Amino acid sequence: MEFIRMANKKLLITGGAGFIGSHVVRLFANKYPNYQIVNLDKLTYAGNLENLKDVEKKSNYTFVKGDIVDASFINELFAIHKFDSVIHLAAESHVDRSISNPLEFVMTNVIGTVNLLNAAKNEWKENFSDHRFYHVSTDEVYGTLGETGMFTETTAYDPHSPYSASKASSDHFVRAYHDTYGLDAVISNCSNNYGSHHFPEKLIPLSIHNIKNNKSIPIYGKGENIRDWLWVEDHARAIDVVFHNAKSGSTYNIGGHNEWTNIDLIHLLCKIMDKKLNRAEGESAKLITYVKDRAGHDLRYAIDSSKLQKELGWTPSLQFEEGLEKTVDWYLDNEEWLNHVTSGNYKKYYEEQYTKR
Ligand code: NAD
Ligand code: TYD
Repeated sequence: MEFIRMANKKLLITGGAGFIGSHVVRLFANKYPNYQIVNLDKLTYAGNLENLKDVEKKSNYTFVKGDIVDASFINELFAIHKFDSVIHLAAESHVDRSISNPLEFVMTNVIGTVNLLNAAKNEWKENFSDHRFYHVSTDEVYGTLGETGMFTETTAYDPHSPYSASKASSDHFVRAYHDTYGLDAVISNCSNNYGSHHFPEKLIPLSIHNIKNNKSIPIYGKGENIRDWLWVEDHARAIDVVFHNAKSGSTYNIGGHNEWTNIDLIHLLCKIMDKKLNRAEGESAKLITYVKDRAGHDLRYAIDSSKLQKELGWTPSLQFEEGLEKTVDWYLDNEEWLNHVTSGNYKKYYEEQYTKR
């Protein structure tokens, strides 16, 4: 079954100036010239219009600056634009920040999502079937795994961080609006993404930035925590497939079957950086520094994405080593981007996060 692929769909993408959102906007703006895409983003520290320089002049793309927490603004936006569908990515997304400031995560991730759901429900209530609300979520809602097993779509929610608790809550609201009001809603839960335009507070871009500048690479605890990494463009392709083909009310897990302990990943990254920076082998790894563990640190995430692969035919396109090398190349080639996002408030955040450890 294919969900309506209307000739002139008007699509709201929230959080399109962020890491994953910018890849989704780029994919949709290029692939669907007949869609009118409105990118709504508050431009927090994580939102950056430089991520969309290659898209901003396209005639099917519009940017709107705004906050999803502001209900009357959101209602007005829906009334003006008459969106056909929504792909909702806007969120506070960093676990460490959620530990320092949980309320901000409740506001954007929970209240912001409910504001969008209310606006969609009110605008579309005459005919839900021609509209879709797609909520982009994370595998972190499932909690943590031991040494074996994988998260499936039926794994019980068991979030541990304020970030994952806020995302779990928003997922529940999306399902509730489907079950209670009949809103056409779909959810996907994806594993850790990596690739270009990733804000350097997350493990991979932070480490690339630090290695390049001969600064220490902070590894939480013993570095034995495991994450399942997916190339961000493969996530964007999966979002395209799910948006257009999923049954209303369905959920899909998205992941690359690509588990790495943090320390093994960082060793691989150091090897690539040595090569790219013409350093002697082993030079970058000397920067590895074990620091105090993150509170409530989930041990292992692993996603079973077989439902998506079998039902909708999506598969990841890149091997990790290749994707990581491409990512390093992007950061080394885009020094200006990195310098812009690491000036100003970034320095303050970095000091607060790492010097107190
Ligand atoms: P990000 O932090 O890079 O980007 C978030 C974007 O949302 C930013 O552009 C920011 O300005 C915007 N935003 C934040 N608060 C807002 C508000 N109140 N109103 C409007 N815009 C606001 O995040 P990301 O890594 O691109 O993640 C995007 C989505 O994907 C999130 O919902 C996240 O939970 C989910 N996700 C992320 C990952 C990952 O590995 N990064 C994995 C799975 C799912
Ligand atoms: P992160 O990129 O913050 O993603 P998430 O917490 O959503 O999985 O962290 C990935 C892993 O790397 C996680 O186990 C925490 C760890 N980590 C470090 O060891 N050092 C760091 O400086 C950061 C940011 C993360």
